[in-house]
Formats: sequence, structure tokens, C-alpha cells
Amino acid sequence: KKIAVFASGSGSNFQAIQEAILRGELNAQIELVVTDKPNAFVVERAQNFQIPTFAFQAKNYDSKDHYEREIINQLQEKGVEWIVLAGYMRLIGQTLLSAFPMRIVNIHPSLLPAFPGKDAIGQAIDHGVKITGVTVHFVDEGMDTGPILSQAAVEVVEGDQEATEKRIHELEHELYTNTLKKLFES
Ligand code: GRF
Repeated sequence: KKIAVFASGSGSNFQAIQEAILRGELNAQIELVVTDKPNAFVVERAQNFQIPTFAFQAKNYDSKDHYEREIINQLQEKGVEWIVLAGYMRLIGQTLLSAFPMRIVNIHPSLLPAFPGKDAIGQAIDHGVKITGVTVHFVDEGMDTGPILSQAAVEVVEGDQEATEKRIHELEHELYTNTLKKLFES
């Protein structure tokens, strides 16, 4: 499968997916990394793997429809079939959703539907939950609301947010690659 990874930040999930591909564990090829943050670390990671990047800034477009149409042009040029969101901090609009129906997936660091939106790990810890986790889901027009593909749970490390975050990120890398593997096989 030809895929594009969308990211706004560090890109550790991008890297985990690419490494799984290189190990031959995932039948996919990352054709393009799309970012709305031209300085994000994911751009450097993509360069290290010689994967092309499309970086845009929303402020240079008059609407979401407008920049999403530009993204679609880039994706079509590369024959991309699936969009994999990995820390892409923007809501996907109707333009992209209708161009890729049920072909956009996302990973979120909580057991959805609990703690959607930003800083899900912080939200969960502030709420005092003892177990949290990771969810991979199809993307729809809502914020972290689409049909769930897979979940995995993590015990919160009491009084140590950093340790909890580390557990969650490690689990993300494992769950995302495993879920994509199943999705692309079916
Ligand atoms: C991950 O926690 C992901 O679940 C969330 O944003 C974070 C991205 O991390 N949506 P990275 O850029 O893949 O390192």
C-alpha cells in the first residue's frame, strides 16, 4: 500500500512505521510526509530516510478547503492510497475526507472516547485514572471520534508523568504498526 504520514511534531510514530516497513513487517511504502509545521523534527526524520516532505503553512491559504486541495494534488501525484495521521494537530476537513473515504487513520494517546483532543495524557493523569492507553481509529469529521480499530491499555505510573508518557509512546509505536499491518492485509 502506498501511504502518506501526516505529522506536526517529533514524528516518532512516523519513524516506528518506517522502521517496521524496512524490517519487512509492514507491506507499505511511505510516499510522502505531510506537515503543517515546516520546522517540525519529523521533516528531519523524513530526510534521513530520503522520504519526500510536503510542508505547508495554513496561514498562507484562505481556507482549509484550499490547503486540503493542494495536499490532495500532492497525494495523487504520488499515488497515495491511505493517509496515516501521526501527531497531525489539525482537524481533517470534508475535502480530504471525501477524497479518502475510510482511508484515513489516526492514533490517539488515550482509551477513546475518554480524553479526546489535546494533551490526552495530561488530561487522563489530572483526572486521576489508574489505567489509560492508546487508540487507533478511522478518522471522521469529529475530534478523535471515528470508528475504533484497536486499543491497548497502560497502567499509570503514580506520581511520574514522564514514565507514563514513555510507556504510552512505546505502546503507540507497537500498536500502530500492528494495526496497519492487519488493515493492509484485509
Ligand atoms: C502521539 O502521542 C500521538 O498519539 C498524538 O501525538 C503524538 C505524536 O508523537 N496524536 P510523535 O510526533 O509521533 O512522536
